[in-house]
Amino acid sequence: MRLVDTHCHLNFGDAFPDVSLTLDRARANGVDRVIVIGCDTETSKIAVELSKEFDGVYAVVGWHPNYAANYSRSELGLIEAMLSHKKVVGIGEIGLDYHWDYATIEQQRACTSDHLQLAISAGVPVVFHCREAYSDLLDWIERLPIAPEKMVLHCFGGDAMHASRATELGIYFGVDGPVTYKKNDSLRLVLASVPSERLMLETDAPYLSPEPYRGKPNEPAMVSVINARLAEVLGISVSECAELTTSNAEQFFGV
Ligand code: NI
Repeated sequence: MRLVDTHCHLNFGDAFPDVSLTLDRARANGVDRVIVIGCDTETSKIAVELSKEFDGVYAVVGWHPNYAANYSRSELGLIEAMLSHKKVVGIGEIGLDYHWDYATIEQQRACTSDHLQLAISAGVPVVFHCREAYSDLLDWIERLPIAPEKMVLHCFGGDAMHASRATELGIYFGVDGPVTYKKNDSLRLVLASVPSERLMLETDAPYLSPEPYRGKPNEPAMVSVINARLAEVLGISVSECAELTTSNAEQFFGV
């Protein structure tokens, strides 16, 4: 069984003081590739460095909406320069977050808009972070004259209507720890209803540990737990679910 963690933050050094050990535990659980996602220039730079240092590690670079108050256009050139590394496989995480107010909506939009233009002109996949803002983000994408060819809603948590609008736009869905939470029957129903060739596994480590590990730090090895739960949701075997989601991730990110 081979699994891919398509979204984690091994670039958060405090949470992952020994990346080599973390990757050993991931491989022991079948996770042979991980994609490390940037949140600003510094964490993007670390993601690129990790991708150069370790086999099976790839990077996505860009500014998270919660960091957008510190973003200025001069940062975009630094992000663009990182795209020349061959293990940088996308722009992200970018988007809208109405849950927290670390940055104003205007700041989030300006930051995300710059990154979107970069992703479109460079022809690379986009990883979206969206929290309590699905309608606005989907409206935005629907109105783009040209949308990025590949987009994923990381840690998808929208409702059936959001899922169907996203499906229409060709967007992929990131599945994380919340699919294992007892109260999340509605999320499981939605995930079972979207095209299975659009599902990808991710941990968002160190956040969002799956059941029964909630409250403990998350890590890429936990993708195996999420895969097992998603397999039940889809009514397929654990190995079929691994094959499906890994092939989706390979096609999406080219890893
Ligand atoms: Ni994230």
